[in-house]
Amino acid sequence: MDKNENIIWHPNKVTPEDRQKVLGQKGLVVWFTGLSGSGKSTIAVEVEKKLTDAGYAAYLLDGDNIRHGINSDLGFTDQDRNENIRRIGEIAALFRDAGIITLVSFISPFRKMRETARERAGEGNFIEVWVSTDLQTCMERDPKGLYKKDIKNFTGKDSVYEEPLHPEIVLDTAGTIPEECAETVYREIVVRMGES
Ligand code: ADX
Repeated sequence: MDKNENIIWHPNKVTPEDRQKVLGQKGLVVWFTGLSGSGKSTIAVEVEKKLTDAGYAAYLLDGDNIRHGINSDLGFTDQDRNENIRRIGEIAALFRDAGIITLVSFISPFRKMRETARERAGEGNFIEVWVSTDLQTCMERDPKGLYKKDIKNFTGKDSVYEEPLHPEIVLDTAGTIPEECAETVYREIVVRMGES
């Protein structure tokens, strides 16, 4: 039996346009993807700050933080990562619907999971940012000391990372400081916010 067969969608009276009028902005999902230690969260934190300072309503959902709370029941098997990202994709879509610029920073290693998140946000409401720092550099940086540990299913080592094929933005952190990367993303967001 379908678990949802007796659940009926209840329509709202408030439209996204109504919310846009109240907030003075439309919602957007900005999805950072890349290896552990690539710089996703460092850059996303900067972008959130820049947006907030400029008067936008922004909110960052970050992998390590979310895994302490709503996703604390999940580990790092492919199945758990898929569920991790499925939930985040749904949450990001809700935040976007509420009119918030929603920054998402998770490894999100599989193309299919990122495509599903894009579909949930709605094409045109989604910016995929690939923080393309290569594995060697991430291993040298190893900010959390995790690469040198013998962790099972570690992304880039014995668990796959599928590189994005058509990301809106590619950031190469090897020759660029986080502030410059954040500025690139911020500028793209501001352009999108100006489009009706
Ligand atoms: S995802 O693959 O499901 O998207 P997520 O972004 O939530 O991953 O969490 C990644 C973070 O968890 C890493 O930055 C790292 O700190 C930690 N971590 C712990 N175990 C692993 C692992 N096996 N692979 C990758 N990251 C891990």
